[in-house]
Amino acid sequence: MPTNLRLSDIAPTVIQSEIRAMSVECDRVGGINLAQGICDTPLPPIVGKAATQAIQNGFNIYTRLDGFATLRQAVADKLQRWNHLTVDPETQILVTSGATGALYATALALLNPGDEVILFEPFYGYHVSTLLSQRINPVIVPLDEPDWTLDPEKLAAAITPNTRAILINTPSNPAGKIFSRAELEAVAALAEQHDLFVITDEIYEYFVYNGAEHLSIATLPGMADRTITISGLSKTFSITGWRIGYLTASPRWIAAIGYFHDLTYICAPAPLQMGAAAGLRQLADTGFYTALASEHQHKRDQLCAALADAGLPPAIPKGAYYILADVSRIPGATAKEKARALLRETGVAAVAGSAFFRPGGGEHLLRLCFGKQAVDLDRACELLLKL
Ligand SMILES: Cc1ncc(COP(=O)(O)O)c(C=O)c1O
Repeated sequence: MPTNLRLSDIAPTVIQSEIRAMSVECDRVGGINLAQGICDTPLPPIVGKAATQAIQNGFNIYTRLDGFATLRQAVADKLQRWNHLTVDPETQILVTSGATGALYATALALLNPGDEVILFEPFYGYHVSTLLSQRINPVIVPLDEPDWTLDPEKLAAAITPNTRAILINTPSNPAGKIFSRAELEAVAALAEQHDLFVITDEIYEYFVYNGAEHLSIATLPGMADRTITISGLSKTFSITGWRIGYLTASPRWIAAIGYFHDLTYICAPAPLQMGAAAGLRQLADTGFYTALASEHQHKRDQLCAALADAGLPPAIPKGAYYILADVSRIPGATAKEKARALLRETGVAAVAGSAFFRPGGGEHLLRLCFGKQAVDLDRACELLLKL
């Protein structure tokens, strides 16, 4: 019987994230969750204190649609200091509901249904799903194993007359890839040649190991005007639930992106903006960011060693806080079955590698997150040895 009570055409393609599904399953069996990038390490005390004070001091109503001036200024200072980007906090910064809200509003403001956006594989599923949810077509270019290097010829071959943007993620989820200067120059050259936007998600910018350099593509010659640089504090300050992110772009684009962000979210949570601003201002010269990187490098090495001992060879990530491990030896026809087998046998939850590849890819891989409290990571490493 035909009915108008039905899902939208895209609803079945924008499926529930496998990452969330594994977290639900993990809670059900009381396991240790290395699946979701939940990042349950404690937040810096100053950040929590400033947010609590802001609530008490009455910062509880809508903010300007691009965020409190204090936070925009703190972000601009940070962009200058760390990213070497000079931006005007009045016209070039938008405080958003996480990096997620930043990408959502960017796509609504700059792209049309049917446009193509190039992403690199392995990809972060939300990037693909955000585009799909707006009827934008993701075009996937595979990076080359073992180091996930970019082949500029493959990128060039993927560009069509419908291509409008290239989306990069550095350091990347799930591979921990850090785009090198030469790779970013190749992306920039093609973006200029074909007149494309570059959207860059740099949320893991402080999670870089062994002295690796984080480079923002917007700083390359000719890129400032066509680049939308997205980042946020979810990971850096361990405040994933606060929903505080931001983007910077040319004033040509910011106003429209801001209107769409306003339409969807109004603004990022007001008192939490004040907490984030205090963190950005006060942690800059304290060694906080260096300590963050070295603490996570230690955790990376610990989990990589445990995986190797368990016969699940890890690909050592250069940044971010995830490891892709080869789990061929775990029984199961698919990565999802292998993830469930690992949870059953050891109590450790991981995400099926297939969540980050096109159909058929990543079936021998699982992704494990090491952005965890030491006690949980120690326990997970012990449990993995049961395999
Ligand atoms: C690459 C990437 N971008 C964005 C996000 C989400 O960031 P936010 O919490 O700021 O929305 C994540 C979270 O896992 C991520 O891995």
